[in-house]
Amino acid sequence: LGPAEISTGHLPSAEMVTSLVQEAHERYRTVTDGKVADYIPALAAVPADLFGLCVVSVGGHVFSAGDITREFSIQSISKPFVFALVCQALGGGQARQKVGVNNTGLPFNSVMAIELNQDRTMNPMVNAGAIATTSLAPGDTADAQWRFIHEGLSSFAGRELTMDQEVYESEAATNQRNQGIARLLQSYGRMYSDPLQATDVYTKQCSLNITVKDLAVMGATLADGGVNPITRERVVDADRCKRVLAVLATAGLYEQSGDWLYEVGLPGKSGVSGGLVTISPGKGGLGTFAPPLDAAGNSVRGQLATKFLSERLGLNLF
Ligand code: DON
Repeated sequence: LGPAEISTGHLPSAEMVTSLVQEAHERYRTVTDGKVADYIPALAAVPADLFGLCVVSVGGHVFSAGDITREFSIQSISKPFVFALVCQALGGGQARQKVGVNNTGLPFNSVMAIELNQDRTMNPMVNAGAIATTSLAPGDTADAQWRFIHEGLSSFAGRELTMDQEVYESEAATNQRNQGIARLLQSYGRMYSDPLQATDVYTKQCSLNITVKDLAVMGATLADGGVNPITRERVVDADRCKRVLAVLATAGLYEQSGDWLYEVGLPGKSGVSGGLVTISPGKGGLGTFAPPLDAAGNSVRGQLATKFLSERLGLNLF
């Protein structure tokens, strides 16, 4: 490993991390605020009381509490990892030029944000930029692009991820808004493959099932300059990770990204199924799962537990 790729930080002792992860689970287990996403019919059926936490260090140590074997669809948390894979394939400069890296300050599926920023698709963490990113995946056909994304996300997780067919079909039948976004981007010359096919591949990537441990491993891979802490496979280069984490810091929690950075001080990414991944560069990844969301689409208990752990584990970057 070159100098930029060597992990420098470390978490507190294993005993301390174990007990704080348990404490975070115990503290927020009974919080009932928020609402489970229902705009994708299959998501509405998920029990609201599920709650799992997992920390994976860059050295591969795993600390967890609660519902850790429960699978859920990755949804928007796929976005930073697909961006990392596309940056790896195209180079960070190209990806930035074609997708953009600025916060929109508007909801994740905003059409107005596209109208306000016609020269860029803004950033890969909102739907417009994410679908554009997916359209940039290497491959001559939609199937080949899907294989690239599926294999890459599986390498981040360190196991072959499978798709939740019910979630995929449910979203594919109701994603006219994303199709509209992709078409609008096409009209501005900001889609790089067929818009409906890119939306379909994006919907598939959102429907991949993961656990909180997968999330923590994926986060720890970005934390360690692109090397998966369990399989030791290099998934992307350290330079790509640095760019992805920069975008996450400003846009990972949508229009609440500023509040998040102010309180947690770490790059993170949420998804509507209730997952949240947080990256502590050089130290590890934290995955949480709790389905009820706040108004911006971020898991309520996930945010509480992450704030607690960032503070008590001393992870805040600032
Ligand atoms: O594009 C969508 O609507 C979903 N498949 C993903 C959205 C998502 O997870 C946004 N997160 N907060």
